[in-house]
Amino acid sequence: MTRDDSSETGREPVPDGGTATGEDDVVLDPWGSATVSDYRKLFEEFGIEEFDDVLPDVPNPHYLMRRSVIFGDRGYRRVAEAMRNDEPFAALSGFMPTGDPHIGHKLVFDELIWHQQQGGDTYGLIADLEAHSARGLSWEEIDEHARDYLLSLIALGFDPEEGTLYRQSENRELQDLAFELGSKANFSEFQSIYGFDGETNVSHVQSVVTQMADILYPQLSEPKPTVIPVGPDQDPHVRLARDLAVRMRYFGVTKAYASFEADEEELSHVAAAYEARKEYADDPDMPRCEDAAAWLAEHGDSDVPAVETTISKLENAGMEPLRPRVRFLDRNATEEAYDSLIDAIEGEKRVFDEHIDVFDYSREDAKALAREVEMDNGGYGFIMPSSIYHRFMTGLTGGKMSSSIPASHISLMDDPEDGYDKVKSATTGGRETAEKQRELGGKADECPVYELYAYLLAGDDDEFTKRVYDECVGGERLCGDCKEQAAQLMREFLEDHQEKREEAEELLDGLDIELGSSRR
Ligand code: TRP
Ligand code: SF4
Repeated sequence: MTRDDSSETGREPVPDGGTATGEDDVVLDPWGSATVSDYRKLFEEFGIEEFDDVLPDVPNPHYLMRRSVIFGDRGYRRVAEAMRNDEPFAALSGFMPTGDPHIGHKLVFDELIWHQQQGGDTYGLIADLEAHSARGLSWEEIDEHARDYLLSLIALGFDPEEGTLYRQSENRELQDLAFELGSKANFSEFQSIYGFDGETNVSHVQSVVTQMADILYPQLSEPKPTVIPVGPDQDPHVRLARDLAVRMRYFGVTKAYASFEADEEELSHVAAAYEARKEYADDPDMPRCEDAAAWLAEHGDSDVPAVETTISKLENAGMEPLRPRVRFLDRNATEEAYDSLIDAIEGEKRVFDEHIDVFDYSREDAKALAREVEMDNGGYGFIMPSSIYHRFMTGLTGGKMSSSIPASHISLMDDPEDGYDKVKSATTGGRETAEKQRELGGKADECPVYELYAYLLAGDDDEFTKRVYDECVGGERLCGDCKEQAAQLMREFLEDHQEKREEAEELLDGLDIELGSSRR
């Protein structure tokens, strides 16, 4: 086991619902080893969406998007839409300062910078509370690494005057938000999501609510679509943050047909009965619930539990007419907020203790009104945060890229000559002999060197990337020359990057960010 907190939890963590997992199963564990054997499983098992579906709607997509290095998302459409319509949006990601920033982190740096260049309000944060509590790093170590992450982020193009950089430990507003969010989550959820148990240290738990606050932080001043670019190991955090965003809302907005409550599935059966009203209603403008119940008993599949429960709800409602409506649910509203919602609603409304039914609003308009009233009454009005996920880079030695295996990765602070050497000794997708390579072509899809071109060295140049690929699989490119070219490009990249890091020093020192922690 490579997980750093194994001693703390004392057993294999079982994230994502606590189901036991075998060797081949995909486990998304934020503090475990970050490998994914099959990205397709992430769509099926976890409901991550395919990025390719939203790609056509993204204005001037980044090369990591075009090359499917960014492969998945949750709700990115909303961010893309804001971008297209010139509406406010934000991007935020965080870095645990546990070692040197390396070329894997560069993916996230680039994603943040790109969103900033597209006009997004952009945040980069140092997850020092997490590094201290989940990884046990000392504040001294953290200070040193924090500076290195920030220098690389700025050197790669992040504009710290436009955007925001912060450390979790120094951000009081963040910690206050974390406290509020914590009151909407409970420990058994953390057990099932993260595999936490009685041995988990309490500060580690606190670092999770802090990350929840990070993710919602860009919306503190006003709600806006926000993207969190991360690796898929962070997806459990994203899902929880999306949930908490909803739980914090004052009002929910749903559809209904009568005064009773129904879940999504039941609603679909009521909707079907409503659509068929001409078949059973004396007056189709006023179909009665009990008649709808009889219709559903005849036409619905009685083996489906939701059909059964729907029938009994309809029967209980008796002579009440079915009538489509939009419903505001009271989730967390203060009394004043609930009253001002009642006042703000125009047209016909039915007011109950915990919900209000309205008849002259679309669901969209109702949602907009709910958010407006919430914000006027001191609520946040959070929009569910979105995320994008990038593929993990393969290690140069073939396995996973890991900070703890120096030869597997290239640090952004590596001596350019070492960078050159590491590429030269990298594993390839080449054949045993040059002859075979000419005959069969190389396996670019399994080659860490090709990845270096596609993820980093070719930059924005798609044609160059494609040329490397085609020449490789066509047998015209041999690994020796290919690696030589990649190694030189890597050396140049590191030289250039490190020069820019030096230039960034002054900029960083002028910023309002505490780089020497007062903690001990
Ligand atoms: N948990 C993240 C990691 O392990 C770091 C992090 C903290 C983060 N807060 C965040 C990432 C908010 C994205 C958004 O690297
Ligand atoms: Fe990899 Fe280049 Fe060899 Fe192809 S030619 S397998 S891309 S090193």
